[in-house]
Amino acid sequence: MTRVIKIAIDGPAAAGKSTIAKMTAEKLGYTYIDTGAMYRALAHKAISHSIDTSNGEELHSLLMETEIVLSPSKAGQAVIVDGVDVTKEIRSQQVTAQVSAVAVHSGVRELMVEKQRQLAEGTGVVMDGRDIGTAVLPNAELKIFMTASVEERALRRHIENIQHGITTSLDELKAEISERDRADSEREVSPLCQAQDAVLIDTTSMSIEEVANQISELAEKRIRL
Ligand code: C5P
Repeated sequence: MTRVIKIAIDGPAAAGKSTIAKMTAEKLGYTYIDTGAMYRALAHKAISHSIDTSNGEELHSLLMETEIVLSPSKAGQAVIVDGVDVTKEIRSQQVTAQVSAVAVHSGVRELMVEKQRQLAEGTGVVMDGRDIGTAVLPNAELKIFMTASVEERALRRHIENIQHGITTSLDELKAEISERDRADSEREVSPLCQAQDAVLIDTTSMSIEEVANQISELAEKRIRL
């Protein structure tokens, strides 16, 4: 029987992690889990309940009574919160601006990590986020740390936004991405950082296909081990 592995993909904002993770999962027939979507789901619910994102205890209680379902869809992954599809809403600028503040709280992270481990149990997964290789799946057979220059990441997000009919300024995107990276890297609990045993891939001058192929090759090697 073929060995089933767990793949952790971490890296800064807008590095193309989810696109690549989705492609890899599809190719291997694995489950794709976008952990950023889970933090975004909580941030979205907190905003709609007017909960202060600096209040870790309230956010923890809110998460305790929240059901987050990630379900495979044509477009990748639908995010259902308490039975309502919020796939689009969690990508809003407002949620993007608040999500890192929601993700700093240890109580919130503990619960999220628990949920994420449950989702990964007993199955082949490709999980992307900030702390997957370091905290969520420290025993993942393959760990990738994917990065790219901030200019390149802002440009990619800009093009993606245009395709979705959203107008954003390149400079604003660059500032937003840099600020989110700073907050995610400087937080106390499970900050964004490369796991010691992760493979670093700088995608600045690479095409999506090149990155996907490199990761598929690494995955095949680990599966055959
Ligand atoms: O991946 P995405 O950019 O959608 O993640 C949104 C935010 O969620 C990140 O900027 C970070 O603050 C938080 N996050 C996290 N840990 C993860 C995934 C995301 O703290 N594993």
